[in-house]
Amino acid sequence: MNMLDLIIKKKNGIALSKEEIGYMIQDYTAGKIPDYQMSAMLMAVCFSGMDDEETAALTEAMTDSGDRLDLSRIQGIKVDKHSTGGVGDKVTLIAAPIVAGLGIPVAKMSGRGLGFTGGTIDKLESIPGFRTDISEDEFIRFVNNDGISIMSQTAELAPADRLLYALRDVTGTVDSIPLIASSIMSKKIASGSDAIVLDVTVGSGAFMKTEKEAKELASCMVRIGKKAGLNTRALITGMDEPLGSYIGNSLEVIEAIEVLKGNGPEDTKEVSFEIASQMLIAGKKAANREEALNMIQCSIADGRALEALRKLIRNQGGDAKVTEDASLFKKARIEKALVAENDGYVNEIRCDMAGNCVKLLGGGRQIKGEDIDPSVGLKLLKKKGDPVHQGEELAFIYANDEEKLKEAEKLLKGAYVIGREKPAKEDLILGIIS
Ligand code: URA
Repeated sequence: MNMLDLIIKKKNGIALSKEEIGYMIQDYTAGKIPDYQMSAMLMAVCFSGMDDEETAALTEAMTDSGDRLDLSRIQGIKVDKHSTGGVGDKVTLIAAPIVAGLGIPVAKMSGRGLGFTGGTIDKLESIPGFRTDISEDEFIRFVNNDGISIMSQTAELAPADRLLYALRDVTGTVDSIPLIASSIMSKKIASGSDAIVLDVTVGSGAFMKTEKEAKELASCMVRIGKKAGLNTRALITGMDEPLGSYIGNSLEVIEAIEVLKGNGPEDTKEVSFEIASQMLIAGKKAANREEALNMIQCSIADGRALEALRKLIRNQGGDAKVTEDASLFKKARIEKALVAENDGYVNEIRCDMAGNCVKLLGGGRQIKGEDIDPSVGLKLLKKKGDPVHQGEELAFIYANDEEKLKEAEKLLKGAYVIGREKPAKEDLILGIIS
């Protein structure tokens, strides 16, 4: 078998066999297939797609590219969650401590930013001292002692996904149903939890731009999960504007802390609580959504949710005082307001442009493995449907570099669409597939 033949086959829209997919993943993981050939294959998959059998074979090959985590040393039903990516998506930072505070063991592996979307690991690393590269033993000990740990994907777990994820991030090959489904499900199957709640986002801030695509991706992942014996359910959630007010690594942690204190924006609360409630149901802590939502409110009101976040931060070397004092986060040097040029209503905030704006400021990667700046980002003062007047502040940009700031300003200006009519309010929770 050779990779060049497989690239041409896929380019011509012909399905690859299980053996061919197995060979490709095994040899790429072993360093025998170069990045440039794999990049060409990824692009061919983006254009030609993969059928169900190919996607299942790709998931299996990626799962089998490394070890599986054995979580049997942790008591209770382990419930994981995973988002297909969003802008301002800090749901894990909220839902994980909530359910941990309510007795669900959270042993979670998370990822870094991908494309224009952020990643939980980059966000957690914005907390001074926080370590995400902990050992498997530490991971299990923290969950057994304090109910929660979040680590970055180890080199041994689905290594094929780790390599492909970083390559896709810098080759414009993220938004493909088979690539997303196999990426997420391979590491979720390998990471050993009993149940998984998937947050499949749809809209300008998501990789799926239509509800039809999002449902297709959700069904595909639920089928793969069930086949692997994982209790899998997927929520379809709207991502037509950034979630919450803040985008950027440390800024999103600050917003998540606010939600855990009972404050924070309504959209962020709605999605986070809905995901947390599905996790509570999957973990058999709540019989139904109403009961779950009540439990969530109690855990925020009595401080259990925030305490779970503090334990997570403390155990992993971070400074838990950030939960009381946001000035302990690294701060950007420059704060610049973007003002409205016309009167009207915010009709749209193009999420991908807003996400790319943060990436451009240094909050995401342009090349593989690049360091990021945790302090940069955006504060959106006006969201979709808000009335605005000429000269009024729409958002703040936080930057550390004048040149990047200029570019970011242009991009953010393009992201805000102001119109005469007030746009209709759209639902955030669009469906559930289980
Ligand atoms: N999250 C992942 O882990 N992989 C993807 O491909 C997209 C989102």
